[in-house]
Amino acid sequence: MPRMWLRVTTLSLFLVAGSLKIWANQKPAQCRDFFAAPTWQSYNRAKRGMGPSDFLKEVLRTKGLRVGEAYDLGAGSGNESFELASQGWTVTAIEADSGSARDLKADKRFAKVSGSLKVLELPFEKAKLHPIDLIVSRQAIPFLTPSEFPRVWRSMVENLRRGGLMSIDFFGPKDFRASPLKTILTFEQVVALAGSDLEVLEVFKTEGLHGEAFWQMYTLHARKK
Ligand SMILES: C[S@@+](CC[C@H](N)C(=O)[O-])C[C@H]1O[C@@H](n2cnc3c(N)ncnc32)[C@H](O)[C@@H]1O
Repeated sequence: MPRMWLRVTTLSLFLVAGSLKIWANQKPAQCRDFFAAPTWQSYNRAKRGMGPSDFLKEVLRTKGLRVGEAYDLGAGSGNESFELASQGWTVTAIEADSGSARDLKADKRFAKVSGSLKVLELPFEKAKLHPIDLIVSRQAIPFLTPSEFPRVWRSMVENLRRGGLMSIDFFGPKDFRASPLKTILTFEQVVALAGSDLEVLEVFKTEGLHGEAFWQMYTLHARKK
């Protein structure tokens, strides 16, 4: 078995445990609220203040990145954006939902970091990306249609600087949100996205029943060669 695959497989076992921890960190009432949310704005309001994901913490803690410029694609509640900006990153948060984008700018954390956080209210498939050191996207890229995704992905890879990192969530075929209009990928397809430009560092698997919803999420951490 090639070495990289072995590493991915081993890590994914470890990461199932890690992802359970992520859920354990969320208050059950908040989980219920955002699952039931009828709009992105109410979903994102329910998640506001929950703090950065364990995936982002892992990237910032273990990958030796120097502070630079970051994109948060589908920033939603801004939990990742505010953490990055508070750590000195210059962040562009891209969010298509106007209510959520408005909430980001009205958030009391925004005033503290507004010099280093820019909120762009537009769909990321319309954004003209510029070269950057880190791209994070929590549970947002799969909402691209399968026909839009390849172009957006190419632009993300092209604009990641050499040595830069991506931390991106994908939904698997069994995820409760899977549908033909979304970009749904198997574990193997997520690994294959790296192509020859990215080195896969790890793929986290978050899989299991949470309440009544079955989750199958793959989080790719990859570095630009
Ligand atoms: C499941 S929420 C995740 C929000 C946030 N990343 C988080 O983890 O709290 C998905 C977010 O992606 C945004 N979104 C979905 N499709 C988008 C697109 N094409 N362009 C920009 N934002 C998008 C939604 O408006 C929503 O805020």
